[in-house]
Amino acid sequence: MTNESAHPTESRKNREGKAPSQSAEHLTTSQGSPLSDTDHSLKVGERGPILLQDHHLREKIMHFDHERIPERVVHARGAGAHGTFTSYGNAGDFCAADFLKPGKQTEVFVRFSTVAGSRGSMDTARDTRGFATKFYTDEGVFDLVGNNIPVFFIQDGMKFPDVVHAVKPEPDREIPQAQSAHNTFWDFVSLHTPAQAHTLWNMSDRGIPRSYRMMEGFGVHTFRLIGPEGKPSLVKFHWKPKLGVHSLTWEEAQLAGGADPDFHRRDLADAIEAGAFPEWELGVQLFEDDGTATFQGIDLLDPTKFVPEGLAPVQLIGKMVLDRNPSNYFAETEQVAFHPGHLVPGIDITDDPLLQARLFSYLDTQLTRLGGPNFSQIPVNQPKNPVNDMFRDGFHQHNIHEGVAPYQPNSLDGGCPFMADLAEGQSFPALEYPQETSGAKKRSEPVSFSDHYSQARLFYRSLSAQEREHIKQAYSFELGKCTDAAIRERQVQCLAEIDGDLAASVATALGLEAPAAQLDVEDLPTSSALSQIGSSWPVD
Ligand code: HEM
Repeated sequence: MTNESAHPTESRKNREGKAPSQSAEHLTTSQGSPLSDTDHSLKVGERGPILLQDHHLREKIMHFDHERIPERVVHARGAGAHGTFTSYGNAGDFCAADFLKPGKQTEVFVRFSTVAGSRGSMDTARDTRGFATKFYTDEGVFDLVGNNIPVFFIQDGMKFPDVVHAVKPEPDREIPQAQSAHNTFWDFVSLHTPAQAHTLWNMSDRGIPRSYRMMEGFGVHTFRLIGPEGKPSLVKFHWKPKLGVHSLTWEEAQLAGGADPDFHRRDLADAIEAGAFPEWELGVQLFEDDGTATFQGIDLLDPTKFVPEGLAPVQLIGKMVLDRNPSNYFAETEQVAFHPGHLVPGIDITDDPLLQARLFSYLDTQLTRLGGPNFSQIPVNQPKNPVNDMFRDGFHQHNIHEGVAPYQPNSLDGGCPFMADLAEGQSFPALEYPQETSGAKKRSEPVSFSDHYSQARLFYRSLSAQEREHIKQAYSFELGKCTDAAIRERQVQCLAEIDGDLAASVATALGLEAPAAQLDVEDLPTSSALSQIGSSWPVD
């Protein structure tokens, strides 16, 4: 029943210590029979016809025909790297996770991505960037599946298909991605106004990072940490790049993307190859888990909201260094399967309705994308600690499980070795926090989710004049691609809710009348400076 999993390619090396294929002295079929010729099909006479009995030909072509797997429905374009996370050891009071013990080192695999574009799209498109980290801890895999923007478009997973359908290419022409800012995107975000804050971050320089190495990462949702005595606290995760946060200008993004569509992918691989290993510190904003899931009026379960760092400072708890490029893009970067529900004891989810829908979505999509239920056996997805899951069979089952049938309780098989190893009275920490819950079953929107603009305003006014200018230009350019006058007008009205000057500038650029401003940047108190947002990021 136990899968003592040797990790990644280790288990599949040939006698020379090389990964299989292309490395042996002679070619073989997939069954290992020697091949004398892989250049000519088996024919009758010199000039054919070809014989159906040519198994090598059919096997070679069959395998080639099936080389492509479905690309991810979102985040299809990505780049990955291996590395190590080292704990600073200062999280022990509030999180019992083993990988946060002092000095503990944990192997990681990170995949950065764009959201909207297809697998072959340009790296420098204006978009959100995914920042997904797999920690191979001694207590199992922990995935922190975040983005480079701390807020999200929607508040309930039910809306995810809507936002993605709006942002993906229009069905008739399949002209790609958010950057082309088609009508459907602006139609959706101007009607579904919780999306306004995320859209503003996208229109800012954050939407065109200089490099994956120079991006922040955010867990976005609020998670729950459980301390050694079982005390819970709420937390927002942050990655802080040691190189600082830098962006491209729009013109740079266009030129770089035109000259080199692999600009970010190449930058990451080249830097690692040159020994300039990118580094991030992992930080947490901690909040008391007092049952309200609210901090200073901010609903912590609303993923369209962030908590300014001036209100809740980020405490740094460890450092990640990426120091090894994947040796095979498909095997590792393409087949890696992240999941926000891959948690370890000491870290749990909350009732954020977006997070809860994600828990279903990733498993479901990976079942199709990775061809069945055994994708956790793919080397890059394998935990590095022993696995004993009692699963059996299914497509692409690589384990040869021993013993009698996997079921519990079980008097024939000797029971579960890990349980048996435990001393009397000893138990494993529970994965789930025993949260009290009650209430009427209904489809509703919390009143505390109804403010769609104040944080967009806070972000906008934290920016320098130059950065605001970039935002005005971005809206003017992108909305200028929207051919529906009513949608353009409605979106400019939304901007007036964020800032009057922003709305007026964009309206002028689009040849519209400036809408009545709700608030101007200058009307707002000045105490909430850049440091309060926690987003100090010079523009290169
Ligand atoms: C993929 C982040 C919301 C569905 C991803 C990836 C990231 C990510 C980083 C790429 C993973 C990789 O590199 O393999 C986020 C964040 C969200 C969010 C930060 C909100 C805060 C959602 C929601 C859903 C969803 C609400 C659906 C209800 C998916 C799917 C994939 C994906 C289906 C493709 C997964 C795969 O094929 O492996 N997301 N996402 N995401 N996300 Fe999300």
